[in-house]
Amino acid sequence: MPSGLKRIHLDETESTNDICLNELNNSDIPILVTADMQTKGRGRNEKEWNSPKGNLYFSFGFTRHNLINGLSVKVGLILAESLQQILKKNVLLKWPNDLFYLNKKVGGILVETSSMNNIFKIVIGIGVNLQLSDSNKQWGNLEINTDIDKVTEQIIEMLSSKLFVFLEDDLDEDWSNRWTNLCIHNEKEIMLESNNEELFFMGINHDGQLIGKKKDDKILFVNESSISF
Ligand code: BTN
Repeated sequence: MPSGLKRIHLDETESTNDICLNELNNSDIPILVTADMQTKGRGRNEKEWNSPKGNLYFSFGFTRHNLINGLSVKVGLILAESLQQILKKNVLLKWPNDLFYLNKKVGGILVETSSMNNIFKIVIGIGVNLQLSDSNKQWGNLEINTDIDKVTEQIIEMLSSKLFVFLEDDLDEDWSNRWTNLCIHNEKEIMLESNNEELFFMGINHDGQLIGKKKDDKILFVNESSISF
């Protein structure tokens, strides 16, 4: 665990993102909150995040004077590369920040920000389904059958260290190529859910924007939407 990072672990909580935001209201020290399970886990687009025991619930909070371009997209790459390194499984990315394994979503990222007097409190919430019981099998998971506590701790260690370094140095220049190489819908037809527009996915740029080619060959840069493919 990086020194200078405060860590809180809870057996159960409503949402690790809430605990993290609360902590940042009282202190500027970067904070990591993890939990065994959540009772009111939140996903993107006001969806619920199903959070039974046996999975990763991880929130990393910090304070800054500026926002980071493409933050959640960059975090997706850090997460996918960490999971590949630890689990040796083919974990892939779907824009903007979903994690896929065997064609099912297994993880996601919810970045929440509050600001006052030009100081931003930023929380990166990460949920990854590591193993699920039969009653939850409609969701994808990484099918971890070995010592789940050990694997979870390895992921938490690697993620928090990489995020800590990332906040200091940002990612290398080639990050968007690395992202595109792990993308499950690269060079495929996709549809923007915000307006049902169909595009040919060409990759992402340095700000994490989607680069899409329209039917009339015009190039479009997209900031925030969900896509289907
Ligand atoms: C998504 O919709 O894809 C994002 C899911 C993010 C879930 C994580 S679990 C830890 C943190 N706490 C929450 O309530 N949500 C995030």
